[in-house]
Parts: sequence; structure tokens; C-alpha cells
Amino acid sequence: MARELSGLLTLADFEHAAESVLDAASWAYVAGGADTQLTVRANTDAFDKVWLRPRALGGSGEKPDTTVTVLGHRLALPVLLAPTSPQRLLHEDAEIATARAAESAGTLSIVSTDSHHVFADVAGSVGSDCWFQLYAYRSRDDVAATIALAEDAGATALVVTVDASYAARRISTRRAGFRTPAHVDFGNLRALGVLMGEIPDGARIERLPLTWDDLEWIRARTHLPIVVKGVLRAEDAERCVGLGVDGVIVSNHGGRQLDGAVPSLIALEQVAAAVSDRALVLLDGGIRSGVHVVKALALGADAVCIGRPYLWGLGLAGQQGVEAVLDLLRSEIEDTLLQLGADSIADIDADFAISAH
Ligand SMILES: Cc1cc2nc3c(=O)[nH]c(=O)nc-3n(C[C@H](O)[C@H](O)[C@H](O)COP(=O)(O)O)c2cc1C
Repeated sequence: MARELSGLLTLADFEHAAESVLDAASWAYVAGGADTQLTVRANTDAFDKVWLRPRALGGSGEKPDTTVTVLGHRLALPVLLAPTSPQRLLHEDAEIATARAAESAGTLSIVSTDSHHVFADVAGSVGSDCWFQLYAYRSRDDVAATIALAEDAGATALVVTVDASYAARRISTRRAGFRTPAHVDFGNLRALGVLMGEIPDGARIERLPLTWDDLEWIRARTHLPIVVKGVLRAEDAERCVGLGVDGVIVSNHGGRQLDGAVPSLIALEQVAAAVSDRALVLLDGGIRSGVHVVKALALGADAVCIGRPYLWGLGLAGQQGVEAVLDLLRSEIEDTLLQLGADSIADIDADFAISAH
């Protein structure tokens, strides 16, 4: 049953409310990261070392314009929903609730290969754009079939995650005894024949260790725009762009893969300086407020993605909960722009921030 959301005034309120309704093992899976979770914490803490510089008497006082254009898609706010799985842990409507909430907020969701619902059902549940996030399983033939599944269902971009080829040391999740519950399935993996029969008990299905050759091969394989997720170095971003990739997501997978990986906000400036004139630059990891969104934009991101925050909304109230999270972020972004003396997202640049990193 949908929880009362009106008393939730910050994303931290959503987090605490979600923790109180989820079982401990599912909570550990969603909240957790690799090993000591240093990078999980540092992703958010990094925002505290960036200071905003309001312009005295700046701005017109009109309601600020929060729209952005991302790969030709006009979005009502500079926040996309990062791929996450398995969303069925949080709500029975899973990715369909998320995609519908994104549509009603005027943004888009990126649907994981490991989604509960088959991608065609998620994309078909909305009239707006959906991006597909690619994990590579078994062989290039299977990767080709996965790309075809995305294209046939009308994906408008392919997000290739490159930082999760190997299983991570998720100690907190293991300590909590997390196992994929029986009501969670993996629709795309079944459609592709990668998963047959029972879901392996607690085990992760092996992924292909992706290489630069594979990325070049994927680029040649599809007409869809490609965004590479999990880039933390300027030279890697340049190499992606050199291969014809359209954008990168500066990301450490929300601290879930390598403990000690550089916080994405710290990696952002160099990546943006290297490629933002030629490619889309998104950032995810640790964003917990509209102020954080604006700080990331000031340091060079074109837009951001959020992961855990919308899962909190999903766990509390399905589609309505994700909508509430996006609505809160939109209003926080508007307030931040007003306070800065900026009329629009387009006005935000490096002049608005000082980084103490
Ligand atoms: C529960 C959970 C599941 C995730 N599953 C995926 C996934 O299937 N594919 C992927 O590329 N990233 C996945 N991620 C990483 C997110 O896309 C994103 O990089 C991360 O959540 C951003 O950090 P944040 O949670 O601090 O916003 C997952 C993250 C979480 C928390």
C-alpha cells in the first residue's frame, strides 16, 4: 500500500522511510556497496567540498527553466533514472512503475538488461523515450541478440556499462544474507535464453569481461546512440569518443564495484574538460539533493542520473513514490537556481562553483 509521502521533505526523509518498510536483506542490497563502502560514502561527501557562488541581484525572479536537451531528447529536468536491478525487490510493478514516473516527470529511465520485466513491456508502457542498459552475457552472439531486443522494442539509446564485468565484494549485502527472492525474475535474460530454470541460488550469472575491441564491435553493430557508463578517466572518455560513442556517464556504479574508486564528482572535471565539447557527459553517484545536481552541472555535467534515491520512492509507493522523488528534486533545483541568480540550467557553468578538492 502506498505510504503517506507528504511529510517527506528531503531525500534523506525518503531514505529513512524506505529503510523502515523494507526487509533488512533487501535494504542491505539496495544501500550497500563494495567492501568498506568508502566510495559509497565519498560519492556523497564529495559534494560538500564544492561551494556555490550566487550572483548578487542576478536572475529575473521568474520561475527558472529546468529543461535540458540530452541526445536530442528535451527533458523537463536534468535528472535521468539510472539503470538498477532488481526493482521487483521494491515494488511489484518494478521497471514499469519507474518508466511511467519518469515519463510523467518529463524525463526518462534507463532500463537494465537485468530488469524483471522484459524490455518491450517496459518501453511499451510509456509513450516517451526509454534507454536500454547493456550487460554482456556469454558470447558476442548473445550480445548481438540483446542489442536486437533493445532495438526491436524501440530503445532510443544504448547505455553500455563497463564497470561491472566482474563480481564485486559486497560484504554488507552478504552479511545481511541477501538472496534473490522467488518473486523476482529477469525477463530479458529469460527471453534471451541466458537464464533458464531456477535463478541460481545467491549466484551471479557470469558476464563477459568487456574490452575496447568489444566496444568497437558494439558501436559497429547498432545505429542507436551509445553512452558508456562507468568512465572515471579523461583518456578513457577520449578513447570512447574516438570510437564514435555519443556520451559517457562518469560513474563508479554507486560505489558498488571497487571500494576506493574515485568519487564520481571528483572525476567529473577532467572528463568534462576532455570531451564535453564533443559528447554528452552525465554523472551519477551520491546525488541526494537539488543542490547536488546543480553542483554537478557547474562542474561540467550536462545532466545527472540518480539510482538509490528513486528506489526509495519505488519501495514506498511505486510509481507515485518515484514521481514524488523527482518532484522534490525538481523543486529543489528551481530553488537553487533562484538563490544563485540563474534563470535556467543553461546559465549554469563553472563560474557558479568553487571546488575545494
Ligand atoms: C540496487 C542497485 C542496482 C543497480 N543495478 C544496476 C544495473 O543493473 N546496471 C547498471 O548499469 N548499474 C546498476 N546500478 C548502478 C546505478 O546505475 C548507478 O550507477 C548508481 O546507483 C548511482 O549511485 P546512487 O545510487 O548513489 O545514485 C545499480 C545500483 C543500485 C543501487
